Amino acid sequence: MPANLIDGNKLANQILEKVKKEAAGLKQKPCLAVIMGGENPASQLYVQKKQQACKQVGIESKLFSFPESVAEQELIEKIQELNDDSAVSGVLVQLPLPKHINRNNVLQTISPAKDVDGFTAENLGKLALGIEEMVSCTASGIIKLIESTGTKLEGKNCCIVNHSIVVGRPLMQLLLNRNATVSICHEFTKNLSEFTKKADVLISAVGIAGLIKKEMVKVGAIVIDAGIARNGKKVVGDVDFDAVKEVASFITPVPGGVGPMTVACLLENTVKAARTT
Ligand code: GUN
Repeated sequence: MPANLIDGNKLANQILEKVKKEAAGLKQKPCLAVIMGGENPASQLYVQKKQQACKQVGIESKLFSFPESVAEQELIEKIQELNDDSAVSGVLVQLPLPKHINRNNVLQTISPAKDVDGFTAENLGKLALGIEEMVSCTASGIIKLIESTGTKLEGKNCCIVNHSIVVGRPLMQLLLNRNATVSICHEFTKNLSEFTKKADVLISAVGIAGLIKKEMVKVGAIVIDAGIARNGKKVVGDVDFDAVKEVASFITPVPGGVGPMTVACLLENTVKAARTT
């Protein structure tokens, strides 16, 4: 029997409705500040989507775009200014940054209370301690997608193909917090399918179209595709969707799966930050 589709758009809209009500109930309108360095077309599109969603739910957004040649210190000073601005609830630095910039120096300048991406050492450290306050939007979106199937993660074999701070590392912690058994794979992993085949829940976020083939997936697995790649003009994920849906129990589409959940969780974090700043 073909897999059930997990509808990321539907779940994201439910979250956005809730966020809209919460935002309307706050004394001060929440505000998300977004910093971009360089002109990466994919980043421009993601940021546009984040700003459109802010408008939809009554959150103000401010975009600070810097050229590819921007100095690290200039980004750091802008973040310090936004940290001190009581009208700003959340600060997000869109990744990737230009190659000459030390990403950690920039991200670790964000005030943990305004760190709506959950990338600061304080928020990543809390997550490792089991305290889920400000958590990566893609990682928490993925957990919500899995939990929407009614599956309990405790004791499940989960395989993540990605070890970045955006997805793999925070997702690993979220899964461990729910007592799942986790393996993390990445571009240096040998025999990827040895790991993926054991997974009750398989999450891939690499950006290589067709990386996850039917033979690599356990029958009945939940498959979450957080990859974004292009196949001609079409946006596709990492998973060979048409073949894998024949063996999986649940599967996310691309587009319409993880993407809208990332945006919805970002706005959830922004309202959470607005309550405390
Ligand atoms: N680039 C790709 N995904 C993300 C994300 O979730 N947050 C930020 N800041 N940059 C990204």
